[in-house]
Amino acid sequence: MKKKAAEKAVEYVEDGMIVGLGTGSTVAYTIKKLGEKIGEGLKITGIPTSMQTKKLAAEYGIPLADLNEYTEIDLTIDGADEVDSNLDLIKGGGGALTREKIVAYHSKKEIIVIDETKIVKGLGCDFPVPVEVIKYGWQNTKKAVEKLGCKAELRRIMDEVYITDNSNYILDCDFGRIEDPEQLEQEINNIPGVVENGLFIDLADEVIVGSRQGIMTLEK
Ligand code: A5P
Repeated sequence: MKKKAAEKAVEYVEDGMIVGLGTGSTVAYTIKKLGEKIGEGLKITGIPTSMQTKKLAAEYGIPLADLNEYTEIDLTIDGADEVDSNLDLIKGGGGALTREKIVAYHSKKEIIVIDETKIVKGLGCDFPVPVEVIKYGWQNTKKAVEKLGCKAELRRIMDEVYITDNSNYILDCDFGRIEDPEQLEQEINNIPGVVENGLFIDLADEVIVGSRQGIMTLEK
């Protein structure tokens, strides 16, 4: 289901485009397919949102550039952990939320590729909100985030504390169902020590959903 949605998104990519490349297992299929198209003659420049994507895209022969070289990205394709009926999202399961949000903000069009299990009635029901925080004073930052009504866990992979590409920590914050995602996004980001959070409000233009029945496209 992921593969179907991810490959469909490649149809939106045109010759000469600057393309934001998201992070995660779904968009990995997009990157592979883009690599094939490049082999057939497609000319694009990719802007990776993580070290992981940079490595993968390079392996598939996608020419890459740094975001600082472009003020605007034509199209970004990325995954998500949850999508609601307004096309607002939770992202950051793969830890790349800050770079993903910067790239999404500077993109003319943001396409999200998911399987049908990611569609939810309310954000926060199944997935905690990842919050990237700087290491300095992180325990105090965690307490401040918890005062907004969540239980926060420092992300670990195996027994190691997870470190982002920006050398920060991630707090996975379980708020339960979030009634006002837009307000919460702002409240979290107002806390000193928070770099960015995984609530993506009004950034997605289109969501391509892979399901057992086929592909469905959701638009604003
Ligand atoms: C990466 O930080 C995330 O935002 C991913 O885009 C999101 O977690 C979806 O990942 P999968 O495609 O692996 O489910």
